Amino acid sequence: MLWYSLHVNPAPVPRSAKSPVRWRPELETGLGAIDQQHRELFEALARLAGDLEAGMPGTLLDEPLAALARHLIKHCQTEESLMKEAGFPGRVAHANQHQEVVLRVRDLQYRRMKGQAVGRDALVELGAWLEQHIGEADQAMAGYLRSLHTA
Ligand SMILES: [Fe+2]
Ligand SMILES: [Fe+2]
Repeated sequence: MLWYSLHVNPAPVPRSAKSPVRWRPELETGLGAIDQQHRELFEALARLAGDLEAGMPGTLLDEPLAALARHLIKHCQTEESLMKEAGFPGRVAHANQHQEVVLRVRDLQYRRMKGQAVGRDALVELGAWLEQHIGEADQAMAGYLRSLHTA
Protein backbone atom coordinates (compact mmCIF):
# COMPACT_ATOMS: atom_id res chain seq x y z
CA MET A 1 0.00 0.00 0.00
CA LEU A 2 1.31 3.41 -0.90
CA TRP A 3 2.04 5.86 1.87
CA TYR A 4 -0.40 8.46 0.58
CA SER A 5 -3.28 6.01 0.45
CA LEU A 6 -3.07 5.32 4.16
CA HIS A 7 -5.85 6.84 6.18
CA VAL A 8 -4.76 8.58 9.31
CA ASN A 9 -6.93 9.58 12.19
CA PRO A 10 -7.71 13.21 11.51
CA ALA A 11 -7.14 15.70 14.27
CA PRO A 12 -10.26 17.76 14.96
CA VAL A 13 -10.22 21.09 13.19
CA PRO A 14 -11.22 23.99 15.45
CA ARG A 15 -14.74 25.01 14.49
CA SER A 16 -14.81 28.57 15.58
CA ALA A 17 -17.61 30.66 14.17
CA LYS A 18 -14.88 33.14 13.36
CA SER A 19 -12.84 30.77 11.27
CA PRO A 20 -12.67 31.64 7.58
CA VAL A 21 -12.63 27.96 6.67
CA ARG A 22 -14.64 24.96 7.74
CA TRP A 23 -13.75 21.40 7.09
CA ARG A 24 -16.49 19.57 5.24
CA PRO A 25 -16.63 15.85 4.44
CA GLU A 26 -16.84 16.65 0.70
CA LEU A 27 -13.30 18.00 0.92
CA GLU A 28 -11.91 14.56 1.79
CA THR A 29 -9.89 13.27 -1.15
CA GLY A 30 -9.49 9.73 0.14
CA LEU A 31 -5.71 10.14 0.17
CA GLY A 32 -4.91 10.05 3.87
CA ALA A 33 -1.70 12.06 3.84
CA ILE A 34 -3.20 14.76 1.62
CA ASP A 35 -6.32 15.00 3.75
CA GLN A 36 -4.17 15.31 6.85
CA GLN A 37 -2.16 18.14 5.29
CA HIS A 38 -5.36 19.90 4.23
CA ARG A 39 -6.63 19.75 7.79
CA GLU A 40 -3.34 21.14 9.05
CA LEU A 41 -3.63 23.96 6.54
CA PHE A 42 -7.13 24.75 7.74
CA GLU A 43 -5.92 24.67 11.33
CA ALA A 44 -3.07 27.06 10.51
CA LEU A 45 -5.47 29.45 8.80
CA ALA A 46 -7.99 29.17 11.65
CA ARG A 47 -5.25 29.93 14.17
CA LEU A 48 -4.14 33.01 12.26
CA ALA A 49 -7.73 34.21 11.92
CA GLY A 50 -8.34 33.55 15.62
CA ASP A 51 -5.27 35.55 16.62
CA LEU A 52 -6.33 38.38 14.33
CA GLU A 53 -9.84 38.32 15.74
CA ALA A 54 -8.45 38.36 19.29
CA GLY A 55 -6.80 41.67 18.47
CA MET A 56 -3.22 40.48 18.65
CA PRO A 57 -0.75 43.10 17.57
CA GLY A 58 0.62 42.69 14.06
CA THR A 59 4.04 41.52 15.17
CA LEU A 60 2.44 38.52 16.94
CA LEU A 61 0.73 37.53 13.70
CA ASP A 62 4.04 37.00 11.95
CA GLU A 63 4.62 33.57 13.48
CA PRO A 64 1.17 32.08 12.67
CA LEU A 65 1.46 33.62 9.22
CA ALA A 66 4.87 31.99 8.73
CA ALA A 67 3.43 28.69 9.98
CA LEU A 68 0.66 28.94 7.40
CA ALA A 69 3.23 29.61 4.66
CA ARG A 70 5.31 26.60 5.78
CA HIS A 71 2.32 24.26 5.77
CA LEU A 72 1.20 25.55 2.40
CA ILE A 73 4.59 25.22 0.71
CA LYS A 74 5.16 21.74 2.12
CA HIS A 75 1.71 20.68 0.99
CA CYS A 76 2.13 22.05 -2.52
CA GLN A 77 5.46 20.22 -2.82
CA THR A 78 3.84 16.98 -1.67
CA GLU A 79 1.07 17.20 -4.26
CA GLU A 80 3.42 18.27 -7.03
CA SER A 81 5.73 15.31 -6.33
CA LEU A 82 2.78 12.91 -6.40
CA MET A 83 1.45 14.38 -9.65
CA LYS A 84 4.88 14.19 -11.28
CA GLU A 85 5.44 10.63 -10.11
CA ALA A 86 2.05 9.57 -11.43
CA GLY A 87 2.33 11.51 -14.70
CA PHE A 88 -0.93 13.36 -13.95
CA PRO A 89 -1.81 15.24 -17.17
CA GLY A 90 -3.11 18.34 -15.38
CA ARG A 91 -0.05 18.80 -13.18
CA VAL A 92 1.26 22.01 -14.75
CA ALA A 93 -2.06 23.86 -14.45
CA HIS A 94 -2.44 22.51 -10.93
CA ALA A 95 1.05 23.63 -9.94
CA ASN A 96 0.30 27.08 -11.39
CA GLN A 97 -2.65 27.33 -9.01
CA HIS A 98 -0.35 26.43 -6.15
CA GLN A 99 2.05 29.15 -7.21
CA GLU A 100 -0.81 31.64 -7.14
CA VAL A 101 -1.84 30.79 -3.58
CA VAL A 102 1.74 30.75 -2.32
CA LEU A 103 2.18 34.24 -3.79
CA ARG A 104 -0.95 35.39 -1.96
CA VAL A 105 0.47 34.24 1.36
CA ARG A 106 3.90 35.67 0.54
CA ASP A 107 2.19 38.97 -0.24
CA LEU A 108 0.59 38.97 3.22
CA GLN A 109 4.02 38.34 4.75
CA TYR A 110 5.50 41.15 2.67
CA ARG A 111 2.78 43.53 3.83
CA ARG A 112 3.49 42.59 7.42
CA MET A 113 7.21 43.27 6.85
CA LYS A 114 6.25 46.74 5.72
CA GLY A 115 4.24 47.17 8.91
CA GLN A 116 0.85 46.89 7.24
CA ALA A 117 -2.09 45.11 8.84
CA VAL A 118 -3.33 41.69 7.79
CA GLY A 119 -6.99 42.10 6.96
CA ARG A 120 -9.62 39.54 7.83
CA ASP A 121 -10.97 39.83 4.28
CA ALA A 122 -7.68 38.52 2.92
CA LEU A 123 -7.96 35.45 5.16
CA VAL A 124 -11.57 34.86 4.16
CA GLU A 125 -10.53 35.05 0.49
CA LEU A 126 -7.67 32.68 1.16
CA GLY A 127 -10.03 30.22 2.84
CA ALA A 128 -12.45 30.39 -0.07
CA TRP A 129 -9.58 29.87 -2.51
CA LEU A 130 -8.41 26.79 -0.63
CA GLU A 131 -11.87 25.28 -0.45
CA GLN A 132 -12.40 25.77 -4.17
CA HIS A 133 -8.97 24.42 -5.06
CA ILE A 134 -9.42 21.33 -2.90
CA GLY A 135 -12.95 20.77 -4.16
CA GLU A 136 -11.95 20.96 -7.80
CA ALA A 137 -8.23 20.64 -8.63
CA ASP A 138 -7.26 18.43 -5.70
CA GLN A 139 -10.26 16.16 -6.18
CA ALA A 140 -9.37 15.75 -9.86
CA MET A 141 -5.79 14.90 -8.92
CA ALA A 142 -6.93 12.49 -6.20
CA GLY A 143 -9.36 10.77 -8.56
CA TYR A 144 -6.53 10.18 -11.02
CA LEU A 145 -4.16 8.88 -8.35
CA ARG A 146 -6.82 6.60 -6.92
CA SER A 147 -7.66 5.26 -10.37
CA LEU A 148 -4.06 4.17 -10.89
CA HIS A 149 -4.34 1.87 -7.92
CA THR A 150 -7.78 0.45 -8.51
CA ALA A 151 -7.37 -0.41 -12.19
FE1 LIG B 1 -3.45 21.26 -4.94
FE1 LIG C 1 -4.18 20.39 -1.68
